[in-house]
Amino acid sequence: MTTSPLPFTAPDDELASLLAGELAEVGRIFERQLACDLPAVNRLCLHIERYRGKMLRPTLVLLSGLAVAGDEAEVGERHRTVAAVTEMIHMATLVHDDVLDEAQVRRRGSTVNHLHGNEAAVMLGDYLISNAFHLCSRLGEPSINLMLGEVTNTLCEGELLQLDRRDDLSLDEPTYFEIVRRKTAVLVGACCRLGAVLAGAPVAVSDAMHAFGEALGVAFQIRDDVLDLTGRSEIVGKSLGRDLAKGKLTLPLIVHLSALPPEELERSLELVQARDAEALLERLWATGAIEAAQAQAEALVASARARLGDLPDTAARRLLDAMAEAVVTREF
Ligand code: FPP
Ligand code: MG
Repeated sequence: MTTSPLPFTAPDDELASLLAGELAEVGRIFERQLACDLPAVNRLCLHIERYRGKMLRPTLVLLSGLAVAGDEAEVGERHRTVAAVTEMIHMATLVHDDVLDEAQVRRRGSTVNHLHGNEAAVMLGDYLISNAFHLCSRLGEPSINLMLGEVTNTLCEGELLQLDRRDDLSLDEPTYFEIVRRKTAVLVGACCRLGAVLAGAPVAVSDAMHAFGEALGVAFQIRDDVLDLTGRSEIVGKSLGRDLAKGKLTLPLIVHLSALPPEELERSLELVQARDAEALLERLWATGAIEAAQAQAEALVASARARLGDLPDTAARRLLDAMAEAVVTREF
């Protein structure tokens, strides 16, 4: 697996090169874990290793460890293994998500389902999730398996709730946030908590890191949902417009619908039902709904950044801060 240029600039060269080396090692652990004696299996795994992701989750595991441990900080094999496990869980969910969304493009390449069909994609997702827990078990720390098992339970619950509310035109903000917290934020929160715990952080600090990660995760998903409506596929690098196509109401649309007078509401609901993305987007811009959703993401990032305030002032903390900002300004 190749590591990606992160969507933000590391303010410190020494930390940037340390992180690049650590992420390369995380990539090697990932590849070693998936290696199989069957070429048919390796071919599919190669497909997902070829595409560069942002490696956001492994980066958060590593940086959270470095940030809580202060100037003398180092991360070790346990951090790298957990980082690889979190990326593998994330990849499993994306491979399955692309089946559910019938997406054709991910990370600037064809999705597994598009290239090899749904059966292969479902099985590859299963292989990834099984390997993630197998790799995690090698650490011999049941509490980590337990925590990540709760995370994967919760993100399936989030997806199931989202499926249940497809085409529900009365979906409200609390339900949207419940879906997003479960399907996206819990894993990001766990990455930050685990990075801190493995570096020996006291409970109050690992709780603060968890809260930082969860707020970041929700903001990340809101930005993802904004980009799904407003972005261009060649820049974002994946299939867009899938939320509306699949009847998933996301924050910009929920904000829009909740603020309209009855005669306007009827028109917008017709457009949702007709899956008319272009006309709907025009109305979302005109009513300020895109900016309102984006503002909620930015407020969450501000609250996340405030959680870092008690950490020692290190390059790792500054980088976490820069990452938080990039989550809501990113174009891909
Ligand atoms: C992306 O949503 C999807 C997720 C964050 C979670 C998907 C989880 C599953 C499908 C459950 C699978 C569970 C296991 C344990 C394998 P999105 O469609 O809004 O994002 P996108 O724009 O990146 O596609
Ligand atoms: Mg999707």
